[in-house]
Amino acid sequence: MRVKVTYVGHSCFLFEGSEKIIIDPFISGNPNTEIKPDEIDCNYILVTHGHADHLGDAIGISKNCGATIIAPYELATYCQMQGAKNVHPMYIGGSFRFTDNLKIKFTIAHHGSAAMGETITYTGNPVGMLIELDEKTIYHAGDTGLFSDMKLIGELNQIDLALLPIGDNFTMGPEDAAYAAGLLNCKEIIPMHYNTFDVIRQDPLVFKKYVGDSSNVSILSPGQSKTI
Ligand code: NI
Ligand code: MN
Repeated sequence: MRVKVTYVGHSCFLFEGSEKIIIDPFISGNPNTEIKPDEIDCNYILVTHGHADHLGDAIGISKNCGATIIAPYELATYCQMQGAKNVHPMYIGGSFRFTDNLKIKFTIAHHGSAAMGETITYTGNPVGMLIELDEKTIYHAGDTGLFSDMKLIGELNQIDLALLPIGDNFTMGPEDAAYAAGLLNCKEIIPMHYNTFDVIRQDPLVFKKYVGDSSNVSILSPGQSKTI
């Protein structure tokens, strides 16, 4: 079965196959997307870490449609305390089969994780995720710097699609992300986490040039989809 991947914007993607999944649903306040959070109807909401540009509308969407939030333990607990209906906590190195067609594994990500309001609430470690949906393997790196274990992730998984941050400043920039693509040995890449804010302004064509012929780079504008 084919999986439709829609770039909602920033690090947020919608995966539609036998399950409907959204990841890092930063929609309200994202200047680059026209999709509205109350239009989202899904079974699962994946959240890589607690920063507002990833947690985003997760709790609201969960309240709206009853979707299960899958997140690192502290963050999942935080979501539950904020009124999310269903949560499933996981952690780095752990995988769980949610249905016959959906398995998720958490990977490391070198970053931070906290919910920032009037106070700073610790939300555990940030993660990346390997999502096996309908026999397609998607790697969402979350927010991270380059790390050599990406080679291991590439050796242990046949990655059909890698979603890699290229914005620099908070995460990998184009050069490091292109190196990551080589380590991951993935067929296809969609760059993310760039151009939402001035500080992460990047030209995705520069990233594509660095990757060269080793993987296919698809540059999607917010709202655009691709089928894998
Ligand atoms: Ni972050
Ligand atoms: Mn971020």
